Amino acid sequence: MGRLPPDLIDNLVDAGSREHYSDAALYDYEYRRRRADVTFYRELANQRAAKRVLELGAGSGRVTIPLARDGHEVVAVDQSKPMLAKLRARVAALPQAAASRVRVAEGDLRDFSVEGRFPLVIAAFNVLEHLYTRGEFAACLARVAAHLAPGGAFAFDVQLPDLAWLIRDPQKRWAKTRFTDPTTGRAMFYSTNHDYDPVGQIALIRLYYEPVDGKGPTKIVKLSQRKYFPAELEALVAHAGFRVVERYGDFSRRPLEHGAESQVLVCERAIPRRRKPVSRRGFGST
Ligand SMILES: C[S@@+](CC[C@H](N)C(=O)[O-])C[C@H]1O[C@@H](n2cnc3c(N)ncnc32)[C@H](O)[C@@H]1O
Repeated sequence: MGRLPPDLIDNLVDAGSREHYSDAALYDYEYRRRRADVTFYRELANQRAAKRVLELGAGSGRVTIPLARDGHEVVAVDQSKPMLAKLRARVAALPQAAASRVRVAEGDLRDFSVEGRFPLVIAAFNVLEHLYTRGEFAACLARVAAHLAPGGAFAFDVQLPDLAWLIRDPQKRWAKTRFTDPTTGRAMFYSTNHDYDPVGQIALIRLYYEPVDGKGPTKIVKLSQRKYFPAELEALVAHAGFRVVERYGDFSRRPLEHGAESQVLVCERAIPRRRKPVSRRGFGST
C-alpha cells in the first residue's frame, strides 16, 4: 500500500496496541499451544539465577505465572486493564508462596518506573513490536537500562519479518480457521489480513471474527506491529547502549537465518570503550 496519512496511522497504531488485548480469555485461547518461548524464558531466568525478574508487556501472565512458580519474584508491567485483570486472577489462584512473589503494575513500555533494579528484564512474544518508532524504541530501552542491575540482561523476541507475508494481498482473508469462542461458546470463523506501510515498517493487521451461522456482525479487531529487520534491530540496541550477547532464530536456540520464525535476543549493557589517551607528544615534536 502507499503511505497512509500520519494521523490515520497514529490512530490505527494506537488502537492496534490495545484492541487485540481487550478480550484476555480469547487471547489465552488463541495462544494456548505456545509453549517454547515460556520454556526459553524460564531456562534463562534459571541460568542467570535471577531472583527478581522485570517483565514488560506481561499480559495475562503466560510467562509470569511459570516464573513465579519456579521461585522468581516477578514485577509484571502492562498497559492493558483486561490483560492485567486476567493476570491478577491467575495470581490469586496460585499457592500463597508463589502468589506473594508477583507484583502487577499498570504501566507503559515507554515510560514505566518500578522500584528496584533487576538482574533480568524480559519482553516476551513480540512485545517490542508495539514500539512503533525509533524514539519509542529508544525510550523503552532507556527505561530498561534504568532498571537493570549491574551485569544484568535484557531478553526479548520479535518476529523475523517475512517478506512474502508482508506483501500479501490485503483484500483477501487469510488463515481462515473455525473455533469456539471461549466466552460465548459460539462457533466462529477467524481470518486475517493487513496493510503494510513499508516506510514506517508497520503492519496494520485486521483480525476478523465471524459467526459461523451468519447471524450477527463480523467483529474486526486491530493489531499493529512494527517490523524490525535484523541489522536495524542490532543498530537500535547498540544505539541504546546495549550489546547483543546471544541471538537466536527460535526458542530452541537455532541460529537466526533465512526462514527463522523469531529474533530472540539477549542483551547486556555495553561497556563504554576507554578512549586512548591522546599523546601530547608526537605532533610537531621532533
Ligand atoms: C503479544 S502480547 C504478549 C503478552 C505476554 N508477554 C505473553 O507472552 O503472552 C503484547 C502485550 O504488550 C502489551 N502492550 C502493548 N503496548 C504496550 C505499551 N505501550 N505499554 C505496555 N504494554 C503494552 C499488550 O497489552 C499485551 O499484553
